[in-house]
Amino acid sequence: MPEGRNRRWLFEKRSDGPVGPQNFRWTESVIPSPGEGQLLARNLWLSFDPTQVLGLVAPPSEGGYQVGEPMGTFAVSQVVESHIPKFQRGDLVYGASYWEDYSVVDGKGYWDTAKVLPGASPRLAAGMLGITGMVAYFGVVEVGRPRPGETFLVSAAAGGVGSIAVQVAKLLGARVIGIAGGKEKCEWLVGEAHADAAIDHRREDVATRLDALCPKGIDVYFDNVGGPTLDLALERLRPHGRVVLCGTTARYRAEPPLPGPQNYWRLIMVNGRMEGLLGRDYFDRFPEAMTVLKGWLDAGKIRSKEDVVEGLEHAPETLARLYSGANVGKQLLKVADPAPMDPP
Ligand SMILES: NC(=O)c1ccc[n+]([C@@H]2O[C@H](COP(=O)([O-])OP(=O)(O)OC[C@H]3O[C@@H](n4cnc5c(N)ncnc54)[C@H](OP(=O)(O)O)[C@@H]3O)[C@@H](O)[C@H]2O)c1
Repeated sequence: MPEGRNRRWLFEKRSDGPVGPQNFRWTESVIPSPGEGQLLARNLWLSFDPTQVLGLVAPPSEGGYQVGEPMGTFAVSQVVESHIPKFQRGDLVYGASYWEDYSVVDGKGYWDTAKVLPGASPRLAAGMLGITGMVAYFGVVEVGRPRPGETFLVSAAAGGVGSIAVQVAKLLGARVIGIAGGKEKCEWLVGEAHADAAIDHRREDVATRLDALCPKGIDVYFDNVGGPTLDLALERLRPHGRVVLCGTTARYRAEPPLPGPQNYWRLIMVNGRMEGLLGRDYFDRFPEAMTVLKGWLDAGKIRSKEDVVEGLEHAPETLARLYSGANVGKQLLKVADPAPMDPP
């Protein structure tokens, strides 16, 4: 049993505006002990996703948090004590965890617990080889399926999922256009991620730029945001075009709820396909995607862009960054470094 205290963020108050520390309560308690079929994990890196606000907005009857519940997350952790045979003390693992230093988990959460790819750092395992990289990889390869020369559009293109989707589509030979908020993001997309063009939705009229950049239309739209951008893409979908529905960041907090897309009828006119993508459905194939992405990374064919905040105490503000658009690349929070551990 490690010595020390367990610092934690518990859900305190439902959100009716921007998310921040006011929605949580910071507590310190004893480090918990794992029981049969459980393990004690020391959290190292936390991953942030726009969907995390859903549990802060919805009432408990609709899946929202109860007051006093620990805030859930995807994390990379180190096993401190294990009563699950396939994990040993010292192992680096990823899976469902909580905003706290130490978590007891049974290995079966929204994300089951699994070992980090050998040779991958905890930071990489939480970033490009974490949920967002997996969703981006399978969303492009299995759902969008771009062919060489096709025009591939990505929204929130300099974010966690978007930054990988752009690069995977480019490696498959597509002509890639990213939509992102701000000069820094757009420069990164063209200069580092090798997108063919970037549209800055904060300074440019997206419709005008799409018409200029895609005079023949769009073959694949990888949608991370929903809302008006989805309508603009549907309006320009080419024959047999595909829309990958990955996320709807524009909708998660919208009040009243945003209406659905107006231009969905275009799917009829172009024999198009709009398909939802749930990353966890590919869980058994994560090692395959991790191996491919890590291979591309090691060969210098792809870049991992992470936006790192340090310190568990900053978790609420870190989540808020996804909604202000402050994050460039995958939003992570570093809690701790792995520690050398004696065998049990
Ligand atoms: N389907 C799945 O299994 C799965 C798994 C993981 C994530 N996702 C989804 O994938 C999407 C991307 O996730 P991520 O973790 O990579 O987040 P992210 O794109 O790194 O961060 C969110 C970005 O969305 C943009 N944004 C913020 N508020 C917005 C609004 N009101 N309207 C439109 N855009 C807004 C901002 O980018 P700009 O400044 O560039 O506009 C912001 O940086 C999310 O919708 C997430 O829920 C889906």
